[in-house]
Amino acid sequence: MGVQCEIAAKAGMIIQRVVLNSRPGKNGVPVAENFRLEQSTMPDTVQEGQVRVRTLYLSVDPYMRCRMNEDTGSDYLLPWQLSEVADGGGIGVVEESKHNNFAKGDIVTSFNWPWQTVAILDGSLLQKVVPQLVNGRLSYFLGAAGLTGLTALLGIREKGHVTAGANQTMVVSGAAGACGSLAGQIGHLEGCSRVVGIAGTDEKCSILVSEMGFDAAINYKKGNVAQQLRELCPGGVDVYFDNVGGDISDTVISQMNQNSHIILCGQISQYNKDVPYPPPLPPDTEKIQKERNITRERFLVLNYMDKQEATVLQLCQWIQEGKLKVRETVVEGLANIGGKLLQHFLKTSSATIAEAICQFRFLFFIIRLKIMF
Ligand SMILES: NC(=O)c1ccc[n+]([C@@H]2O[C@H](COP(=O)([O-])OP(=O)(O)OC[C@H]3O[C@@H](n4cnc5c(N)ncnc54)[C@H](OP(=O)(O)O)[C@@H]3O)[C@@H](O)[C@H]2O)c1
Repeated sequence: MGVQCEIAAKAGMIIQRVVLNSRPGKNGVPVAENFRLEQSTMPDTVQEGQVRVRTLYLSVDPYMRCRMNEDTGSDYLLPWQLSEVADGGGIGVVEESKHNNFAKGDIVTSFNWPWQTVAILDGSLLQKVVPQLVNGRLSYFLGAAGLTGLTALLGIREKGHVTAGANQTMVVSGAAGACGSLAGQIGHLEGCSRVVGIAGTDEKCSILVSEMGFDAAINYKKGNVAQQLRELCPGGVDVYFDNVGGDISDTVISQMNQNSHIILCGQISQYNKDVPYPPPLPPDTEKIQKERNITRERFLVLNYMDKQEATVLQLCQWIQEGKLKVRETVVEGLANIGGKLLQHFLKTSSATIAEAICQFRFLFFIIRLKIMF
C-alpha cells in the first residue's frame, strides 16, 4: 500500500468503484473509455437507518445506454453524472446494519446499487431476498427471478392477451437475450401453442430450440426473415414480444393477425440513435397495425411493482421445477465492467448465448453483468 493509500485508509475504508468518464453522445456508439475504474474512500461509520453492504453481483442492462446521455429522454431514468459512480441493479451481503429490517449476513438487493466494492446505503433502498428461493443462485435475483423475469412474465400477462388453448403463435425478437429467452419459455408456460424466436447467430438459435423449448428460431443475419417467418408461422403471428424494434419488427408486424398483440418491451436496435421512445412505426407498418387492430401499448415493468412479490414467487417456482431454463456466463473483475458494458452496446457477433449474463469477480467479490452480445 502506498503512502497516499495509508493516509486515505485512516480517513475511511478504501474501495474500488466505476465512474462515468465521458459521454458517447446521443447518436454515438459507446467506447470503453466512457468508464473509469478508480480507488476511493468511504466513511467508516454507518449512520442510523443505513446499511454497509459488500457487492456480490451487478447487472448491466440496455436501459443504461440512456443513462449515459445528459438527458435520458425519460422521466423515470436519471442520467449518470460525469466522474460520479454509476449504479443499477445489484445484490450483496450486509456487513453492518443500523436499520431495523436488516442484520449482518442478510442478502439484499436494490435497483440503485452503486458500482463499487463496498457501499453504505440507505436501508429504505434495499430489499431482503431469500437465497433458497433460487437454490442459492444469487445472480438470478437480478435476472430470471428479478427485473428481467418480471419483465418477461408481466409483459406477457399485462399486454400479451395469451389464452391457454387458443392455439396462439408467439414470436420473440431479441430471443437470445435475457428477457427474450425467458419470454419465449413463459409464452409456452402461459399457453401459446407455438413460439418462434429471432436471434443473431446459428448457435443462439440452436440453443433456443434444443434447450429453451422454442419451436423454431430464425437467424436474422442470414437468409430472408420474412420468408422464414411465413414458413414457421403458417397461421400468422398472434403475439409479438418485441425487444428490438426496427426492420425486424416491421417484418414481424407485417405477418401479424387481425386483433393480435405486440408486447412493446424494448427497442434495442434504436438505443444508439437520438429518437423518441417508443420510436414511431414507419407509415406502411403503422397502416398494417391500424388496419389489423394490432395493439401496441407501451409496457414498463416498473408500473407493475405491486405484482412484484407474487410474480417473483411464480418465477422462482418455475426455476426450481426446471420449467424455466436460465443461462449465465461468468466474467470476472470490476475493472471489466466498462468494457463489458461497451460490448453490450456494440453487440459482438462472436459471443454466444452463454454470454447472456456475465459475472465479474474482482478480488473477493463478484459482479454479474447481463449483456446483449
Ligand atoms: N419494458 C420494460 O420494462 C423493460 C425492462 C427490461 C428490459 N427491457 C427491454 O428489453 C429488451 C431486452 O433487454 P435484455 O435485458 O433482455 O437485453 P439483452 O440481454 O442485452 O438482450 C438483447 C438482445 O437483443 C439483440 N439485439 C441487440 N441489438 C440488436 C439489433 N440492433 N437488432 C436485433 N437484435 C438486437 C441481442 O442479440 P442478437 O445477437 O440476437 O442480436 C440480444 O440478445 C431491451 O430493449 C430492453 O430495453 C424493457
